[in-house]
Amino acid sequence: MPHEPIDNTMARMNIPLSLYIHFPWCLKRCPYCDFNAHALKGELPEQNYINALLADLRHQLSFFGNDRPIHSVFMGGGTPSLIQPSAIKHLFTQMNELIELPDDTEITMEANPGSIMDESQLAAYRDAGVNRLSVGIQSFNAKQLKTLGRIHDSKQALTTVESAHKAGFKRINADIMYGLPNQTLDEALSDVMQACELPIDHFSWYQLTIEPNTLFHHQRPTLPDEDTIELIEQQGRSFLQSKGFERYEVSAYSKKSPSQHNLNYWQCGDYLGIGAGAHGKITDLKKQSITRTRLFKHPTRYLGATPDERFTAETVANKEHAFECALNAFRLTDGFSESIFKERCFGDHALTEALLIEAEQKQWITRQNGFITPTKLGQRYLNDLTSLFLSSEN
Ligand SMILES: C[S@@+](CC[C@H](N)C(=O)[O-])C[C@H]1O[C@@H](n2cnc3c(N)ncnc32)[C@H](O)[C@@H]1O
Ligand code: SF4
Repeated sequence: MPHEPIDNTMARMNIPLSLYIHFPWCLKRCPYCDFNAHALKGELPEQNYINALLADLRHQLSFFGNDRPIHSVFMGGGTPSLIQPSAIKHLFTQMNELIELPDDTEITMEANPGSIMDESQLAAYRDAGVNRLSVGIQSFNAKQLKTLGRIHDSKQALTTVESAHKAGFKRINADIMYGLPNQTLDEALSDVMQACELPIDHFSWYQLTIEPNTLFHHQRPTLPDEDTIELIEQQGRSFLQSKGFERYEVSAYSKKSPSQHNLNYWQCGDYLGIGAGAHGKITDLKKQSITRTRLFKHPTRYLGATPDERFTAETVANKEHAFECALNAFRLTDGFSESIFKERCFGDHALTEALLIEAEQKQWITRQNGFITPTKLGQRYLNDLTSLFLSSEN
């Protein structure tokens, strides 16, 4: 489809641009997961896929322009660690010819402990340019790992993180879920405590949600009740704090440095998305418009199409900007600059201001020195707080 070139001259100055790269395969699908992840049947078409990613990037740069440096890169999935380090290295060598990747760019790769082998493989990912690893541990409890259909045991999870540390990774995130089937308070806290023993600087702690189109949706497990969840959250958070992990987003805790990539999403920054099912968001400050992009989801359909055929770009209606921004920014527990609403949303600013006043009156947010911070009440009623901005669509 034809696309009008976007003028990025001003966006370059103001809005960071990240790059998301999706890898849509896993060795096995987990029963709770609704990500664009497909069980690998046969051999992974590694070379074809890397070529397709590069073709997507060239295609998108041809009309979004290549004059903005990349702020951060995130390789997510699926399971990106199924791709050999040599292929990742080739990808980055070629990408360096197309875009500006400053030396200190945060480059994260998600890794499933069931697919990562040893220290030398991890060192090879580092050599390829990856400088941050996000390890999907989920739990250390053998019974839970089985219920969650994970392809690894707790020992493999520990070894992956320890090997990554030995391989020189200074920035490692651990994904742990809580509110698991029949999970007790002690079991959930034990997962948090064991994760904190690891050489990680970042902790993502997600409450298990039952998503449509997952096995758990059809065969619903028994989940802990609300009171237990509240105790898990309270005690888990204070334990994390005692270990130096500051909560900076609903589910994210960091010791030193928050994830630059996720911060850019939550601060309503821009991002290119390449690979099957990847989404992107690009702002044109001159035209005051936001374009959302997406690519064919299914890997076979994606690989069978040209970069232009598999790509869709749509302009977001201005009246939707404030809600989209609210959805992200209110997740930040320490708040965000008001200028995000003013400079990165092009809807009705008077209406947004009225909604902010309403949120303040409900004591869901505070506003001080150009900074908006959700209160404890606002964090608790996050859905109501963000839904308030839906009314800016009326
Ligand atoms: C794309 S996956 C991570 C990488 C890798 N595929 C793995 O699972 O090891 C991202 C993370 O989202 C979380 N997640 C996935 N489905 C979830 C659900 N239904 N509820 C809560 N968290 C979920 C898991 O913690 C998972 O590690
Ligand atoms: S949780 Fe990770 S390993 Fe499991 S299906 Fe989803 S993306 Fe794949």
